Amino acid sequence: MLMRPAIQRRLVLLAPALLAMPAGAQGLRTPAQMEGPYYPRAIPADADADLLRVAGQPAAARGIPLLLTGLVRGPDGAALPGARIEIWQADAAGIYLHPRDPRLAERDAGFQGYGRAVADGDGRYAFRTIRPGLYPGRTPHIHLRAQPAAGDAALTTQVYFPDAPQNEGDGLLRRLPPAARQLLMARLSPVDGGQRAEFDIFLA
Ligand SMILES: [Fe+2]
Repeated sequence: MLMRPAIQRRLVLLAPALLAMPAGAQGLRTPAQMEGPYYPRAIPADADADLLRVAGQPAAARGIPLLLTGLVRGPDGAALPGARIEIWQADAAGIYLHPRDPRLAERDAGFQGYGRAVADGDGRYAFRTIRPGLYPGRTPHIHLRAQPAAGDAALTTQVYFPDAPQNEGDGLLRRLPPAARQLLMARLSPVDGGQRAEFDIFLA
């Protein structure tokens, strides 16, 4: 009987710590998704994390500016500084920087289409990009690949937008169970002149 209050106290103390645990520590994994046909055939000369500006192009990208940011975490929930992130996506008119895109000639030259970033000391990455435009057959999405600094377990997936009405009709998204689908949804919030999309990446 003497032990019971002590145990109860310990449980009460533990509860907030459990709630504060990063999702990655609870065994979550970001689901993989297909690479798709439009990973760049050649990495562009300007491949930095600011897709709104292309070196040598006078005009900035068209579309709704988007700050895509989040944490990269390993299997134990710990942040993964130095993880390498790549994104590639359609421009505001739904056109990819890829020779197989039938509308390549009309693409926005001011939009970089592809970018790379390295997670900082806290495991955080950030890209300046736009809300991707629609193209036939898909809901809006950003392709993303993440690779930890150590090891070779790269993850290829796609980032989605919870406010997109096309989500319900998207074959790739619809085949996922609800919990997996949720892990691929960015958390959106308004920022000056655009949106912020928070997307954490949980690597296996
Ligand atoms: Fe795509």
